[in-house]
Amino acid sequence: MQKRPRIYVTREIPAAGMQILYEYCEVLLWRDSLPVPRETLLGAVADVEGLLTLLSDPIDATLVAAAPHLRVISQYAVGYDNIDIAAATARGIPVGNTPDVLTTATADFAFALLMAAARRIPEGDANVRQGEWHTWGPQTLLGQDVWGATLGVVGLGRIGQAMVRRGRGFAMRVLFTDPRCKAEGEALGAECVSLETLLAEADFVSLHCPLTPETRGLIGERELRMMKPTAILVNTARGAVVQQEALLRALREGWIAGAALDVTDPEPLTPEHPLVGLPNCLITPHIASASVAARTQMAIVAAENLLAGLRGERLPHCVNPQVYR
Ligand code: DGY
Repeated sequence: MQKRPRIYVTREIPAAGMQILYEYCEVLLWRDSLPVPRETLLGAVADVEGLLTLLSDPIDATLVAAAPHLRVISQYAVGYDNIDIAAATARGIPVGNTPDVLTTATADFAFALLMAAARRIPEGDANVRQGEWHTWGPQTLLGQDVWGATLGVVGLGRIGQAMVRRGRGFAMRVLFTDPRCKAEGEALGAECVSLETLLAEADFVSLHCPLTPETRGLIGERELRMMKPTAILVNTARGAVVQQEALLRALREGWIAGAALDVTDPEPLTPEHPLVGLPNCLITPHIASASVAARTQMAIVAAENLLAGLRGERLPHCVNPQVYR
């Protein structure tokens, strides 16, 4: 019988993916609910051919070098800013990700954050729980209208486009910034504008760009000060796209009305973090793609990417196709 390839999986993923992996591979699984410690992972990759990673695992050049037999890295996420792609590519190691299957779940969640922040739902819920609901109040927790407002979408990839569709469904004027996707955005009824125009005109600014050297710190003091004092910033992309110290000041000093963040820098934030104490900042623990269906499909795609790499086949979703040239 042929020896099964040994792989390391840095956290248990949904059963649909684990079953595929167990069927074809010798699986070494980190069973804890917290990320595998760096030293453990460095040791574990020494004799594996495949690695299944999460966005909380830093896969840098040192780690790639510590895995001399590694033939494929499969990321259980669409974003892969935790992986040194250049280091993997230099070794000819294909890196897979899980696009498409989480698009609608993530856009639904981004829109839910937008609605929740606009209409102050977490504050209302907290009021009730804290015994502060004494009567119907003519001016209690007044929020912002969503219907017919202006939405600014920064980054018009799959999730950005799905967000545009949701905004258009709420009769919103939708602006976007991604000139490479001008035709796609306009076909959805959105307007391609500069980042400056978007920030100045949008009632809601929703971030949907990947974290790259170009987008790191994209939204800082200058950008936040360009936004309307009534505007709300929604981030389901990556925390480091926003300069968090500047955001903290913006929220404290009223440069903008509020923020709804599914991603922060770092993750997780402790309850003592100053952003966590702000009533105008809604924070969720990086769960935008966390629907049963999306996570199940992500598990299947991640497993299929891994198996393809082990078989020497092209990955169904490869982020560094240069390895095939
Ligand atoms: C991703 O896939 O990049 C999300 O952040 C988690 O699903």
